[in-house]
Amino acid sequence: MKRSKYSDIKNIFIDTVNNDNFVELETTLFNYHILEESLDKPLKMILLFGKPGTGKSMILNRLFHNLKDKREIHYFEAPILSEKEFLKNIYESISSQSIPPNMRVNFDGLLKYCQKLKGKREIVFLLDECQLYSEALMEKIRLLSDTRVVKFVITLHKTENEDIIAKEHFKTRIWEIVELKNASIEDLEIYIQKKLIKKGFVEVANMISKKDIKFIHTYTKGNFRETNKFLYIIFNIYEYYDIYNPEKISGTTKLSKKILEMTAIKIGYIHD
Ligand SMILES: Nc1ncnc2c1ncn2[C@@H]1O[C@H](COP(=O)(O)OP(=O)(O)O)[C@@H](O)[C@H]1O
Ligand SMILES: [Mg+2]
Repeated sequence: MKRSKYSDIKNIFIDTVNNDNFVELETTLFNYHILEESLDKPLKMILLFGKPGTGKSMILNRLFHNLKDKREIHYFEAPILSEKEFLKNIYESISSQSIPPNMRVNFDGLLKYCQKLKGKREIVFLLDECQLYSEALMEKIRLLSDTRVVKFVITLHKTENEDIIAKEHFKTRIWEIVELKNASIEDLEIYIQKKLIKKGFVEVANMISKKDIKFIHTYTKGNFRETNKFLYIIFNIYEYYDIYNPEKISGTTKLSKKILEMTAIKIGYIHD
């Protein structure tokens, strides 16, 4: 297929969790700092939660990259659902030793091992996607955090119909809770502008008016994942015109209202 500059632009909006693409928004930085500071408090568990697409994984990833040379920190980017594998990974991370595949880590042994390190070491584990962990494994995570040798930062999806925070174990053991919300219209504008400008597409950033941002926000509610999808489709349509029907978009200095509407229809926000 032929390429156009819009091929590169649409790819800016593919979902990736990568610190190089991190966009600094005031609210994101604020939450980031609360999280970073909470690591120095005598807390055992820190909960980062919010609806899917609010930027939890991005912040967790950034925390790891910023701290990995400064303190003992380990990052479980994908959940390790097997308890055997999970405990093994925890032990291997703490001890810097690898365990032969046929051996298993005994939980009580691991607890004792951690207790012995009390006062000597403080190890942070970043666990993403904790809504996928079983209750039994979460209980073990909590017991490990009780040793105060290991501290966990966990992310959880907030769902519409289930109040996770109300669950018993979160009431008693987690002290710091950082909740991420969808972006405001102002933040969404900065997000989109910065993403485009970072990759050198200033003229495209200038095509997008405040009114366009408002339009996009109406549909995506400021959710980053939804916004990425929206922008991807906008520029996918531009790419198509650029390749097959360039006079339709030639000399444009404003985002086409028609293309915005086509995008909303395509995603299913609007029914035609
Ligand atoms: N601060 C940010 N800077 C840049 N992109 C972000 C930021 N926050 C979210 N995103 C984008 O939104 C997408 C969804 O964010 P993510 O962290 O995966 O959400 P969650 O983990 O809450 O479901 C990411 O793939 C990324 O492209
Ligand atoms: Mg995530």
